[in-house]
Amino acid sequence: MISSATLLTALFLSATSTATVLPPRVAAVNPVVSGTPQVLGVVSDPTLDRDSCGSSLIGGRVLWACRDTEPVGSDGIPTLPVISSTASWSDLDSSGLPVLDGSTYPMYGNNNEEPFYPLQADECDDNSAGGCSDGTRYAIWPDTPPLVTNTAADGTVTAYTWIRKAHITDSLTDLAPDPDTSLYKVVYSPSAAHDALPAVTIVDEAFWAADEQVPYGAYGSIVSADGSTAYLYGKGSSGTIALAKVPVGSIEDKTQYQFYENGSWTPTPPSLNASDINVPNASAGGQGTYFFSPPWERYVWIGQAGISVSADFFVTTAPAPEGPWAAPVQFYSAENGNATLGAYSLQANPALGGFEDGANDVYLTYTKNDVINGVGFYSTPLIKVSWE
Ligand SMILES: *[C@@H]1O[C@H](CO)[C@@H](O)[C@H](O)[C@H]1NC(C)=O
Ligand SMILES: *[C@@H]1O[C@H](CO)[C@@H](O)[C@H](O)[C@H]1NC(C)=O
Ligand SMILES: *[C@@H]1O[C@H](CO)[C@@H](O)[C@H](O)[C@H]1NC(C)=O
Ligand SMILES: *[C@@H]1O[C@H](CO)[C@@H](O)[C@H](O)[C@H]1NC(C)=O
Repeated sequence: MISSATLLTALFLSATSTATVLPPRVAAVNPVVSGTPQVLGVVSDPTLDRDSCGSSLIGGRVLWACRDTEPVGSDGIPTLPVISSTASWSDLDSSGLPVLDGSTYPMYGNNNEEPFYPLQADECDDNSAGGCSDGTRYAIWPDTPPLVTNTAADGTVTAYTWIRKAHITDSLTDLAPDPDTSLYKVVYSPSAAHDALPAVTIVDEAFWAADEQVPYGAYGSIVSADGSTAYLYGKGSSGTIALAKVPVGSIEDKTQYQFYENGSWTPTPPSLNASDINVPNASAGGQGTYFFSPPWERYVWIGQAGISVSADFFVTTAPAPEGPWAAPVQFYSAENGNATLGAYSLQANPALGGFEDGANDVYLTYTKNDVINGVGFYSTPLIKVSWE
């Protein structure tokens, strides 16, 4: 069974946004931090202890989709069960930032102690962690927040998330390094109760095939400048980062996808191990967030190095999703937690702040893991970085 001690997380996450994007015109961007980044506080639901949250702008609020979660009892101590994914809302103020209460940006939402991304019958779904009787686990962990593809006239929002169907040992080793990738559909209804979460259903448990296809969309995603096209990044166990695209209205239709290979687009899905699908420098190798920056008129990735448990943030930019991407540079180091895995799941949150009035700021979060009286606690600091 899964215990508190195994509330651990893989280090290779990613996240997305759905920024409204314009055609890129700027030739080059040199990201330089202006002044000193400000730690604004923590984003937190006080009744939950959890890690690896990413954000999406949905219906005028921010939806945080997170990974392993434990309820926090009245004694302040995390308790079982482990829930493999949960989500929460934050209300936004007039600046497009989460409403502040003291030093906390509150999250709320009714998870009912059930995974936000439902476990399937072959994923040891008799418990909310996906823990199997042989001690292994189906870790159905979102590496990206929902990719918003449509907001209907009545306010209904449709979004999608791809999740690698990771089957891991109790030491976090992948039993199948390149598993199937599942596609989930996330639908928000504006008529739902205020603390209700969007409804999540599975579209296809093996949307991308194990050992054959790149897990497109699981590493990162973005909607294009004109809102027409979803760009989906996938990272195989070899470390290759490959790219696919599909019209936003055809996410569920595999025949509508095109794949970037050898510098051009092809309708034929390349082999997972093809040597000509890597998009060079599209990240620093680890978890992060793709988005479009209106002030820079560039696509941006912000995140962490490949295998890292430090809050060292890197950035790279490109004029188009397929590149060319600049060399990733480190621009900021936040405080590490004092647990063994002190900091991970580094994210940018372009859903926050909104680039209003010519602002050129980005809001960072990461999972900070501290040991307090022998118990591991996870927190999510929110940091404002302004660019020159
Ligand atoms: C890709 O490489 C992995 C690891 O060597 C292997 O398990 C898998 O079968 C290969 N897939 C294809 C389609 O060649
Ligand atoms: C890759 O692209 C180059 C340049 O367009 C072309 O010359 C080459 O034949 C392509 N390779 C394959 C395997 O298609
Ligand atoms: C971009 O990636 C290529 C291939 O991995 C690498 O050789 C090159 O050094 C990178 N470019 C920069 C500017 O870092
Ligand atoms: C780890 O950090 C937490 C939070 O700042 C603190 O309460 C705790 O005392 C620290 N533990 C050690 C061993 O330094």
